[in-house]
Amino acid sequence: MPWDPERYEQFKKERAAPFEDLLAMIDVREGMRVVDLGCGPGPLTQRLAEELPGSDVLGIDSSEEMLEQAAELARPGLRFEQRAIEDVDGEWDLVFTHAAIHWLSDHASLIPRLLSLVRSGGQLAVQMPSNFGHPTHTLIDEVGAKEPFRSGMDGYVRSWPVLSVEEYAELLYASGGSDITVFEKVYPHVLEDADALADWMSGTALVPYMERLPDDLHAPFMDAYRVLLRKRFTAKPVFFGFRRILFVASRR
Ligand SMILES: C[S@@+](CC[C@H](N)C(=O)[O-])C[C@H]1O[C@@H](n2cnc3c(N)ncnc32)[C@H](O)[C@@H]1O
Repeated sequence: MPWDPERYEQFKKERAAPFEDLLAMIDVREGMRVVDLGCGPGPLTQRLAEELPGSDVLGIDSSEEMLEQAAELARPGLRFEQRAIEDVDGEWDLVFTHAAIHWLSDHASLIPRLLSLVRSGGQLAVQMPSNFGHPTHTLIDEVGAKEPFRSGMDGYVRSWPVLSVEEYAELLYASGGSDITVFEKVYPHVLEDADALADWMSGTALVPYMERLPDDLHAPFMDAYRVLLRKRFTAKPVFFGFRRILFVASRR
């Protein structure tokens, strides 16, 4: 199952809060060259471009489905291209990435590489989830460990590469960062019920599982996941405390 822009956008109001926090940490200057890594369907890249006067913003993403939506938002000063984050080069005033690099491994190498794309005096701005110990995630693995799902995915278990806030601060400093701000914040979401949690996860964390599972096991997997979520989250509405890491650093 590839990325589904519509499913992903179902929780766009909730996803906007960390974006606004990250935006507020940017040193805005006129005419910035900006790359948004893992831009998804594009509305947040569009908003970024709107907030940066005279900027030239490039959104890149590896997903064809996401870029099809993003393409509709393109205008002079706002472009989208299909490219892997790993393949981005060049020199940018702002390297921005929102809810994307937790899909890439080895952050100890990735962060210095992303900072190396920033021109001297420019900025790296990152937001990513850090809630992988939350039941919404651990219950996915619990279902995945059961048959027939385990065999259906050849024993696949997603391992998340996200480091601690201290480790990001150290990496940023060691790789030439200055004016470093790193923090972790819990975003308090209130959703209708446990099934809404399953819907949220089906647009993100479940994507790699569904990619590996045979089609006829998708619905049974989701059913089993919903059963566990309903047992764990009995309240209506349900509180979803979503922990995320945000950081910015300038390049010395
Ligand atoms: C959760 S979405 C975030 C989209 C957008 N930045 C936002 O905050 O709404 C993650 C995006 O990262 C993209 N992505 C994941 N790994 C990638 C990679 N290695 N290269 C490029 N894009 C990637 C996915 O295709 C997806 O569109």
